[in-house]
Amino acid sequence: MGLECVSRGRALVFAMKLKFNGLFKTLACAAAFGCMSLSAASVAEAETLRVGTEATYAPFEFANADGSLTGFDVELIRAIGKEAGYDDVEVINMPFDGLIPAIMTSQIDTIIAAMTITEERAKRVDFSEPYYTSGLSVLILEENAAKYPNVNALKGQALCAQIGTTGAMTAEKLSPGKVKAFNTEPEAFMELKAKGCEGVVNDRPINLYFLSQSDASEGVTEINEILTAEKYGIAVRKGNTELLDKLNAGLKTLRDNGTYDQIYQKWFKLAPKD
Ligand code: ARG
Repeated sequence: MGLECVSRGRALVFAMKLKFNGLFKTLACAAAFGCMSLSAASVAEAETLRVGTEATYAPFEFANADGSLTGFDVELIRAIGKEAGYDDVEVINMPFDGLIPAIMTSQIDTIIAAMTITEERAKRVDFSEPYYTSGLSVLILEENAAKYPNVNALKGQALCAQIGTTGAMTAEKLSPGKVKAFNTEPEAFMELKAKGCEGVVNDRPINLYFLSQSDASEGVTEINEILTAEKYGIAVRKGNTELLDKLNAGLKTLRDNGTYDQIYQKWFKLAPKD
């Protein structure tokens, strides 16, 4: 587009030069400037998909030892971005409760963060087709397993959760005014182990991953109950149907060609549920 524009600019300049020699400089400058800024904008947009996430949420998004981000969501959005024709997918780590504000102010183009599609959020962003089925569960200390045989028994007790999550909202319903909310999920887990709260309300796949790491989760167990049915979606700025369509089409291709299953098995070692 840039080249086409420049040559059209030259032809225009040539024609003008024949007729009005005096105006030549002004017109050439206007034509060239207009073209350059147009092509610069379209190139920047075409190259990089800016993705926001909150990367303390293994196995969906977390940092490798060298600081690079990885996980199910990170691999999925990289593959979707490639399908959608982006040269680069830049995954940016930020606080979970800062993700929707960042998309609303155009600091990022999209969010993938194990983010549950909720009515409330759908007023502020648009969501892709669901890409993962999830639900909440509660972690407690093993030594309290008899005291808290079910989630109901935890009502009114101090609970921990991550700020701005569906876990925090559910915890608040169970124990109004008694929820300690943390910026990151590992902080909530640590608080449970330090006996600063009686339970952590969090997405079950993340709880299961935490429990599978025997050192970190020593003395912690899960109440065998799934509290909610939730679906994760990829968010875009409200009304950005162009990007939403590309993401949905990319997701569909990856589901159809087996790439989604491969990524799923790598991180969950199970057949996809949906
Ligand atoms: N699914 C929950 C929610 O949407 C928790 C997501 C937390 N994600 C994260 N990357 N920390 O509220």
